[in-house]
Amino acid sequence: MKIKSLSLAIISATALLSGAVQAYETGDIIVRGGLASVNPDVDSGNIYAGGVEQADQRVDVNNDTQMGLSLTYMVQDNIGIELLAATPFSHNLQGKGGLAGLNDFAEVKHLPPTLTVQYYPMDNSSAFQPYVGVGLNYTIFFSEKFINGADATFGSLELDDSLGLAAQVGFDYEIAENWSLNAAVWYMDIDTTGTFKNANGTGDYKIDVSLDPWVYMAGVAYRF
Ligand code: NI
Repeated sequence: MKIKSLSLAIISATALLSGAVQAYETGDIIVRGGLASVNPDVDSGNIYAGGVEQADQRVDVNNDTQMGLSLTYMVQDNIGIELLAATPFSHNLQGKGGLAGLNDFAEVKHLPPTLTVQYYPMDNSSAFQPYVGVGLNYTIFFSEKFINGADATFGSLELDDSLGLAAQVGFDYEIAENWSLNAAVWYMDIDTTGTFKNANGTGDYKIDVSLDPWVYMAGVAYRF
């Protein structure tokens, strides 16, 4: 009788433990949400005015943090496909080099949807589930405009959309059944060409900017 109770207890405990720690499996959907911060590692070319390069007239771009949301579909036990989405990021542009005194003269918004194929190396005895991913980023720029008085001089600002490679590392740590803490970082190759005109519509300005941001996200994950 005692042995029977004991074995039952052990079986229940084992079931509880294995229930608490489950690796991702084919068909699982993992939704991750949290704060996402885009930190551009800016490499700016010089401004061209009417096709003529303006020596040392460059720009810088500040950071922005928004709500990030990602969705992973597990196509195999160890392989997932993730789409990263977010509320629109808003960045201000400042002057650099010979334009260093120019503070926040333009504002641009963007959405950087990113699709990655992910590999999860750990087996199902682990509550810690790290992953790596590679894929593509497509960044859509919109609502580009001059601000803080610069709009009296310049207008018609447009930034080309960007398609580039993306790589990521991240982890989930299971804290309750189906719930995990999550942290992830992406490196995205985002390059754009900005064009603008004088406020009266004349003139023809151009600048190439490499943004290549590190994107950090921290939050929670839920597995369906
Ligand atoms: Ni780049």
